[in-house]
Amino acid sequence: MSVIYDSQTKQFALHTKSYSYIMQEKEGFLLHLYWGKTIMGDCSYMFREQGRAAFSPRMENCDGFILDDVPLEYPCWGRADMRTPALEITNPDGSVIVDLRVCGHRIESGKPAIKGLPAVYCESESECETLVIELIDSVSKVKAELYYCVLEDYDIITRYTKIINGGTESVQIDRAASASVDFDHIRYDVISNYGTHCRERNIERAPLKRGRYIMSSRRGASSHVHNPFLILTSPTADETSGDAYGFVLVYSGSFTAEIAANQFDSARAIIGLNPEAFSWKLEAGEEFTTPECVMTYSPNGLEQMSESFARVFRERLCRGKFRDVRRPVLLNSWEACYFGFDSERLMKIGDSCAELGIELMVIDDGWFGKRDDDRSSLGDWFVNEKKMPGGIKRISDHLAAKGVKLGIWFEPEMISPDSELYKAHPDWCLHYNNRPRSEGRYQLILDLTRQDVCDYIFESVAKILREGGISYVKWDFNRNMSEAGGSLLGADRQREVDFRYYLGLYSVLERLNQEFPDVLFESCSGGGGRFDAGMLYYMPQVWTSDNSDAVERLKIQYGTSLVYPMSAMSAHVSASPNHQTLHVTPFDSRFTVAMTGSFGYELDPTALSPEEQQKVRETASLYKEYGEVLAKGSYHRLRDPHAEDCAAWCFVSPDKSVCIAGYVLTHVRLYGNNERIALRGLEPDAVYKERFTGALYRGDQLMNFGLHAPTTLEYHSILWILEKQ
Ligand code: DGJ
Repeated sequence: MSVIYDSQTKQFALHTKSYSYIMQEKEGFLLHLYWGKTIMGDCSYMFREQGRAAFSPRMENCDGFILDDVPLEYPCWGRADMRTPALEITNPDGSVIVDLRVCGHRIESGKPAIKGLPAVYCESESECETLVIELIDSVSKVKAELYYCVLEDYDIITRYTKIINGGTESVQIDRAASASVDFDHIRYDVISNYGTHCRERNIERAPLKRGRYIMSSRRGASSHVHNPFLILTSPTADETSGDAYGFVLVYSGSFTAEIAANQFDSARAIIGLNPEAFSWKLEAGEEFTTPECVMTYSPNGLEQMSESFARVFRERLCRGKFRDVRRPVLLNSWEACYFGFDSERLMKIGDSCAELGIELMVIDDGWFGKRDDDRSSLGDWFVNEKKMPGGIKRISDHLAAKGVKLGIWFEPEMISPDSELYKAHPDWCLHYNNRPRSEGRYQLILDLTRQDVCDYIFESVAKILREGGISYVKWDFNRNMSEAGGSLLGADRQREVDFRYYLGLYSVLERLNQEFPDVLFESCSGGGGRFDAGMLYYMPQVWTSDNSDAVERLKIQYGTSLVYPMSAMSAHVSASPNHQTLHVTPFDSRFTVAMTGSFGYELDPTALSPEEQQKVRETASLYKEYGEVLAKGSYHRLRDPHAEDCAAWCFVSPDKSVCIAGYVLTHVRLYGNNERIALRGLEPDAVYKERFTGALYRGDQLMNFGLHAPTTLEYHSILWILEKQ
């Protein structure tokens, strides 16, 4: 049993495969006792009332708790806990206080769905047990239900909160976190992602300092800048040792992830909607549910933490028929031709795809309206017949005859001021009346808080898909929100726009998923501007970055792998010199890096030399052979390209019979770079044969000594494929 309640001690214990999470009710407060390696038994002794008042009042009278010094599960604002709260509410009388006390609990098997929001799911009731702890504010009658869903075998606990207005008037929710965890010391490192367009998901690691450390987005998207997750580790933790706690938010809009070290040297981690971009008017009788937070703990360092997230996201967040299969090898037209294509050119590229073994060709931006550059036509989702006489059908028929499938690009959440749609509906974008509308890439964002706009988006995409011949959609989003007014929402609901926008988007994506189960959807936001678990629920892969340079991708993909599966990262072999960085990189290195994700090409195959075309043929075929191992194998980070002169990694198939390892030299040091790469995850006693050299190694040799990496040329790489004999 993964959820145990002891009525004597009023303790709630959640147990996964490798850890326990323990809470206790005391005088109505829900206290946090423990989160770490599996333990059993009565944990009451772990709670210490230390009496550290230091100007923080005691509750009720001088016999009560010093709430500011107590580890709480879902801290509320207004009473004597002065740390960052999880919940803040303004009552009808203007008072800003909510005082939740435990009033019941229930334990259910299975995992309930969260209405309108993406969430981890389970396939059978036995995979998950759910604890719901009920709390109430006896004055306002506001209730909260704290959901703890325990996926024991996945080593995952998910949390979210439902707030129910049991009073007779509306209240305003000013802050509602998905999860909050109190730690009783501050000896942690904090790990997060930071970045920008084309340089996403660098890694920041720093010791936790006193004060509040906040990673957040107020951009109306999870963003290129930070990513909605938070990791805490013991100070010396590395890939394979030490404690690692991870929190990932299943949400795509503005968020906050905070870790604060408080006056008594305790720490509080909080993750959820960004209160700077949120409030919610909750009418009497209504309920509000926060996005879900997925949590895991590893006693064995970062690798196990990443693997737990990767597994649950791959198998129990991603959905649909593409979840469990190798994705098609594709060619995307963007860096092949940008806006410069017509049907003839596309069909020639398609012919080349067929000859080279590429399974799917994607027509990127520029096929619709009158769009020849990025200044017009978003919203006009009808084919540009001048460029493409005979429409998409002519191309898909042409490709189908050669066994190549077709994909197509949309940016459905946007509207160009220069478009037929804007002429008809200038009020459909997010805006405030009588204020200028800032454009990003000459475009505005549609107001997805409106049902008519959501219906338009759904219908315009569905109409094209219903015509048939399209197997893949790349769904782009190329600016962040500003002047984000919802024209149909009242003055008292304008701070609801960010969250309502995502409820609208998720509803459109759900309808598309339901009607088009055979279409593979890929998310994109100028590359990785919305690489988050929310989007993965609807689209199992994301264009990882607009930076397609293999050397830069090493860092971007490494940073992304902290909490997301490799199979979620689209990665393409692009041209050399690379279009963004001008790096000149051998084809083999570009392949070795791109094959670690959902694989394709981002170049014009008709412009390649016969030798390069042969490389495409060989690599497409190699990926088809091993794509399953890459998609489902465990992933091991062996060298950190952010910190070292090289990158190295390996994938090991679930049955440990195949290992694919890669190494790239990113910086030459004269007489240096004498690398030896020790692999992980193999069977020590098994013998493995390397595919390209025929050499035989035992698993223990590969893991304890490793393989020499003799490359001495910058940006050159080695690929090892080891198969158990
Ligand atoms: C941004 C994407 O990330 C690119 O791959 C490409 O699709 C362009 N948009 C097209 O405008």
